[in-house]
Amino acid sequence: MMAEKTTDWKQELPLIPLRNMVVFPQMVVPLFIGRSKSVKALEDVLNKERMVVFATQKSEEVEEPSSKDICSIGTLSEIVQMQELPDGTTKILAEGVSRVKIESYVSESPYFRVKLIKVAEPEEMTVEVEALIRTVIKQFEKFVKLNKRIPSETLMSIVNIENPGHLADLIASYLTLKVDQKQSILEALAIQKRLKKLSEFLDKEIEVLEVEKKLQGKVRRQIDKVQKEYYLKEKLRAIQEELGEEEEALSPEFMEYRKKIDAAKLPPEAKKQALKEFDRLIKMPSMASEANVIRTYLDWILELPWKKKTKSKVDMTEVEHILNKDHYGLKKVKERILEYFAVVQRTGKIGGTILCLIGPPGVGKTSVASSIARAMERKFTRVSLGGVRDEAEIRGHRRTYVGSMPGRIIQSISKVGVSNPVFLLDEVDKLGADFRGDPSAALLEVLDPEQNKEFSDHYMEIAFDLSDVFFITTANTMEPIPKPLRDRMEIVEMSGYTEEEKMGIAKGFLVPKELERHGLKPEMVEFEEDALLSIIREYTREAGVRNLERTIATILRKIATTLVREKQEKKITVKKSDLNEYLGAIKYRFGLAEEKDQVGAATGLVWTEAGGDTVPIEVTVMKGRGNLTLTGQLGEVMQESAKAAMSCIRSRAEALGIDEDFYRKTDIHIHVPEGAVPKDGPSAGITIATALASALTEIPVRRDVAMTGEITLRGKVLPIGGLKEKILGAKRAGILNLILPDENKSDYEEIKNEIPSDIKFNFVKEIDEVLNIALVRKPEPKPAYREKHEPPRPEGQMLA
Ligand SMILES: Nc1ncnc2c1ncn2[C@@H]1O[C@H](COP(=O)(O)OP(=O)(O)OP(=O)(O)O)[C@@H](O)[C@H]1O
Ligand SMILES: [Mg+2]
Repeated sequence: MMAEKTTDWKQELPLIPLRNMVVFPQMVVPLFIGRSKSVKALEDVLNKERMVVFATQKSEEVEEPSSKDICSIGTLSEIVQMQELPDGTTKILAEGVSRVKIESYVSESPYFRVKLIKVAEPEEMTVEVEALIRTVIKQFEKFVKLNKRIPSETLMSIVNIENPGHLADLIASYLTLKVDQKQSILEALAIQKRLKKLSEFLDKEIEVLEVEKKLQGKVRRQIDKVQKEYYLKEKLRAIQEELGEEEEALSPEFMEYRKKIDAAKLPPEAKKQALKEFDRLIKMPSMASEANVIRTYLDWILELPWKKKTKSKVDMTEVEHILNKDHYGLKKVKERILEYFAVVQRTGKIGGTILCLIGPPGVGKTSVASSIARAMERKFTRVSLGGVRDEAEIRGHRRTYVGSMPGRIIQSISKVGVSNPVFLLDEVDKLGADFRGDPSAALLEVLDPEQNKEFSDHYMEIAFDLSDVFFITTANTMEPIPKPLRDRMEIVEMSGYTEEEKMGIAKGFLVPKELERHGLKPEMVEFEEDALLSIIREYTREAGVRNLERTIATILRKIATTLVREKQEKKITVKKSDLNEYLGAIKYRFGLAEEKDQVGAATGLVWTEAGGDTVPIEVTVMKGRGNLTLTGQLGEVMQESAKAAMSCIRSRAEALGIDEDFYRKTDIHIHVPEGAVPKDGPSAGITIATALASALTEIPVRRDVAMTGEITLRGKVLPIGGLKEKILGAKRAGILNLILPDENKSDYEEIKNEIPSDIKFNFVKEIDEVLNIALVRKPEPKPAYREKHEPPRPEGQMLA
């Protein structure tokens, strides 16, 4: 906005008095207008030239100023922008145009109108002005340097201003001056006067800022000094302590402790902690119960193997050798473990990922882990996490707790006595979590190589380095393992054993092992093949070999007792016919010899954490009103699946020869006995449908058939999980004819070689195929159905 040069320019314009600020020419400022007089002035001016005069009140307290209360020099300004705020005030953006002198008031209501004379901006550049400008700029530079609130770019824009008057105004606007000081600059019309005033103000401002800065420095120096003193005092105390202890005579017990602490080769942090506690101990009356707490704590510190390690090695061939020596079969598992060790051997890093062995009970997880320890020449320790719900069980309780102890990790490490054992964390899938904190988070810290260098047990308080521990985990099933934990793990699946494998394990491993354990020589006892098979089939029914081992042990215990009692050394052969005497009556009936095909009962295959199993599903149909009852503690998914099976059979009523209204006139009861088997999941769908169809058609289901598969409303058979375990479960029950979803065929191809060869597999896509195989005869469709679906034979058809 160019300032005009003439002074004879006169104008009449509205005036808005300002309470506590001064608008300088060339400056753009936001203003809040609230007083009604001022608002009226704004309204008037907005529709016209948008020009107004701002003049400052002499005293900001006056609410309703009259002309006498308003300074006579003001600023002609243009309203650039305006915005009404919700609270009734108006926010405007005004740009100062030029200084004006108020010549007279034309009116004071409804708002002020004034006649004004423009005051020319002096432009002449005398030597004195030049000198003043330089001074002011220098001062301003200094001011900006001291004042962090003003951006340093401001300096650049100031230096570029040519008009000395504008320069002074702009600088003045940056200073934190009082209103009357600012007004005095506005009123200083002569340029020398204005610059001089400004220079004076700048001086004062700089002085204030410098004092401020000095004060801050002083305060900081004072803080530094306090810290230094504190540090020196601490150091002095430590030195005094060192010296003092030598002089003081300690009781023998304490001397012992002191010696132990020195001898224990503790890491610095632990030593410091031990000495600190020791110090507390000797100052305490020896009978104080607190003294005992400290002793226990010191013992923990002293007994932990901070740096004690066994020499260990990672040698793949050794691992392979030992795994083979200790375990029968497990070809895939051994392969996977060797692959894992190949990587460990190559990278030289243990603990990047953690081995996790997953499988049903008794398949050799613990025993594989202990073989690994042997192969690595490390000590072996294990902790069961089953049922651990409290973070403190893993990490310990703080010492403030009565009877507190370290958590299981530190306890095991202390027991095993070295800092680099193979550490088996059993049953990671059985970890719980509740209000006492999430133990899996603590476990994650234990297993994470980034964090376990400094594992902190709440009780110990001192970090223990777990990074040399070789962790292995086991679980029966993968799903419950928290995802972050699973991500750290290298999963190795171990499935159940076939009969042949169990035979191999029993002959090659379990019998010799138990013989030795019972002090019997191998040539003294012989198990006949038939006897072992009977134990496997009729005295145990399991995925692993845990009970098999136990049963063999039972027999050998009895034999050993007899031998001792009879004081003789004769060879004993265990025959199948002897088992009744050793073990009592058989526990499981193998095969189906005595069973009859039944109406309304079908055999399903289920997967459980203990391996695969068979489960009978029963359906009873009674006269009634269409109620569907489900019993046997069925899970929600299984209930849904029962309903789907129901609808599917309903839609096939005609084809199955069932009365179409059956569901209105009958009550249907679906029951799954054997409470132990977890009964959720959709895979019993086709079994329920088959039992249902059988109950309604009164056609029996073949007892030698077992099945698994999800069913859709339209009768499609969908794939299921846990195939191998289910197949082995069927075989254990002596069922050799299986119905499986067609979509599981590819899974089957993968495991074909690991499963018994005497099983017949039927892969199906539709429920109709299931019924064809499972029902002893084909249902007779209703006549109406036959008409629709068997078109009359075209007449005159000729044989080609
Ligand atoms: N393939 C095998 N060869 C030789 N022995 C085996 C084999 N599998 C398991 N065993 C033996 O069977 C017994 C049970 O195995 P182990 O205790 O390792 O099972 P697990 O999988 O850890 O079971 P759980 O899930 O109940 O802890 C052990 O004595 C083990 O040596
Ligand atoms: Mg185990």
